[in-house]
Amino acid sequence: MTTAHIPVITIDGPTASGKGTVAHKVALDLHFHYLDSGALYRLTALSALRKNVDLRDEHAIAKLAEDLPCRFSGEHVFLDQIDVSAAIRAEEVGNTASKIAALPTVRQALYGLQLGFRKAPGLVADGRDMGTVIFPQAQLKVFLTASVEARAERRYKQLIGKGFSANMHDLLKDLTERDARDANRKIAPLKPAEGAHVLDTSAMTADEAVEQVRKWYADLKKHHVV
Ligand code: CDP
Repeated sequence: MTTAHIPVITIDGPTASGKGTVAHKVALDLHFHYLDSGALYRLTALSALRKNVDLRDEHAIAKLAEDLPCRFSGEHVFLDQIDVSAAIRAEEVGNTASKIAALPTVRQALYGLQLGFRKAPGLVADGRDMGTVIFPQAQLKVFLTASVEARAERRYKQLIGKGFSANMHDLLKDLTERDARDANRKIAPLKPAEGAHVLDTSAMTADEAVEQVRKWYADLKKHHVV
């Protein structure tokens, strides 16, 4: 059965732009399913790190992605039945994720898994290429941005809140490097999808951003687009 009629809202943007928080809240408000596509890259990275797989071995990493034994349950994510919700948030895992995400066969291996999240009554998908590659027909596409300083500060608070150590200087450097890697890679580079609403959240709270996305979605409903 085709899933083309099931509404999808894509929320893409750079690292620590708040898209995870915003996408999660929008999904909860609308009672939609939620896809945290970054978690799939992080899970693949964690799996590679734990199995000591050479990060230059594209084929081996793609194999890990293809057979990813993962399960999502509410806020929790499991790899091989082990709760890795906290482990995948470590900066080392994020940095490795961003490196392996540049490998075309890894992206291909995760493609079908991501499409499978499109289930009734709807999906909110967050990532880098949700609107450009995975769900180009999405009814609503959003691109969230924020200044690198605002994003470093958010990531700092997030890491400290989760009990990790963090340092602003290193975070700014990491974010800048990761931005460049995500935007300049050949495959699925980070950029706003055609027709995406661009929202700069540097001076906005997460709730304000959620409100804006909900308003755009309500406008589509009013005009019977969804
Ligand atoms: O939390 P942060 O925004 O840094 O990262 P994330 O959304 O959890 O994703 C981790 C990494 O996976 C990112 O740095 C991207 O390089 C990559 N990614 C991607 O290439 N495509 C996606 N759809 C989602 C994430």
